[in-house]
This record gives sequence, C-alpha cells and structure tokens, in this order.
Amino acid sequence: MPRPLLAITREISPAIAQCELTHLRRVPIDLARARAQHLGYEQALAGAGCAVERLGTASDLPDSVFVEDIAVVVDECAVIMRPGAASRRREAPLVAEALGRHRRLVFILPPATIDGGDVLVVGRRVFVGRSARTSEEGAEQLRAALGPAGYDVRAVPVRGCLHLKSAVTAVSADTLLINRAWVPADPFADFRLLDVDPTEPYGANAVLVDGTVIYPAAFPHTRARLEADGLQVRPVEMDELAKAEGAATCCSLILR
Ligand code: GLY
Repeated sequence: MPRPLLAITREISPAIAQCELTHLRRVPIDLARARAQHLGYEQALAGAGCAVERLGTASDLPDSVFVEDIAVVVDECAVIMRPGAASRRREAPLVAEALGRHRRLVFILPPATIDGGDVLVVGRRVFVGRSARTSEEGAEQLRAALGPAGYDVRAVPVRGCLHLKSAVTAVSADTLLINRAWVPADPFADFRLLDVDPTEPYGANAVLVDGTVIYPAAFPHTRARLEADGLQVRPVEMDELAKAEGAATCCSLILR
C-alpha cells in the first residue's frame, strides 16, 4: 500500500507585489485572482492524491508562496535551503518547522546559497542548476547531504531563466520536459526528453504527482505534446503568480 502524499503550500503574502524579479518586468498583480488560482492549484494537488497543508504567511515575506525554494525533500531527510535572494531567507523557519514533523532536517550553511527551484530530483538522480541564486558551495553542501544516502548529485549550467526547474522538470519517471535554450540536454542523456513548443519557452515547468502532470493552462501547444506522449495532464491557471516569476513547481513541496 503506497504511503499517502502530503503537499505543503503557503498562503500568498499580501506583499507579493514586492516580490523578487530577475528576468521579468514588474507588472501589477491582482491579489484576489492570484489567490483564486492558488486555490485551484491546491485543488489540483488534492485531486492528484495529496493531502494539502497550507502554511501561513506575513507581509514581510513577499515571495513566500514559492515554498519549493526553501527545501529539498527526499525520503531520508529534508534539506533546508539558504536562498540566493537575502529577502527570502526569512521564509525558512516556518517551512523547516513543518518539515521537521516528517523528516530529519539538514541545513545549508552560510556563505553557500541554493534555491530549491534549482534542484531537480528524479529517483536517485539530483541535478543542481548553477543559476544566479545557487552557488558552487550550495551545490557542494547538497551533495554532502544527499550523497551518503545514495543520491548522485551533479551541477548543471542554466542561462536566461531564474531556476533550473524553469528549464527542465520530470513528467514521468523516465521523461523530462525541457527548454534546451535555457539548459543543455547532455546532462540528461539517460532520460527521454520532450521539448517545449518553441512558442512557449516558459512551458518546461510541470508538477508530477503520482502519474498526473499538473500543468499551466497558458501553454496549450506544449500540453498537446504531453498528451500526445500519453501523459495525463491536469491544467491549472497560474498566470497571475507567473507575474511574480513563480511557476507551478514553485508553489508546493510534495512528500510521502
Ligand atoms: N519571485 C520569485 C523569486 O524571485 O524567487
């Protein structure tokens, strides 16, 4: 009998308009619409089999809805990140408290920085994006945390996007969805690769939950490619949170 899945999410901060932005121009965010879309996302997680635990937020945590950046969770432990953006480091204590109820905690220590959005775990393979947010030492500390448990941790260059998982995510146990303009394909040679539609560069970010691919409705051409590959896709509206440079995986931490 498979163990139940838990998805940890976090309420959208009333200060989300002051979020970090790296590659996007700041535009107004409709908080009510963002919250409605976030609820729809949580409902999709529940529909895919997750119990959803939503953490609270605060007005000094503009990016806190993007809970994925704060931890990497595997069966053996939860590694609490030290985010590359200083404004985001205050997000860690509440997430660590929640994860500490389920996992042994390991902490990334200064001066290393690493965002969870830069860490793609597929089985025992762990890819760490060397983005502006994640330092070499951050990748090294993650390797030290996960290597002894049998994880193969390797660094991957990313360019032109915020995080590794802006450029590549898993859509099945052996298939990755990728935008090769933002990440080289060679490190992923052991996987089947599905390319995003060229008109949808932001379309490589999908959440895989027990065979269901939770996927932004904004990318219909790439979605058609996923469905043509036989994948079960559940579309979600995420465009309001996308204005805060957040993608689908950013909004949850999923663990058994
Ligand atoms: N706004 C998401 C981030 O920059 O971390």
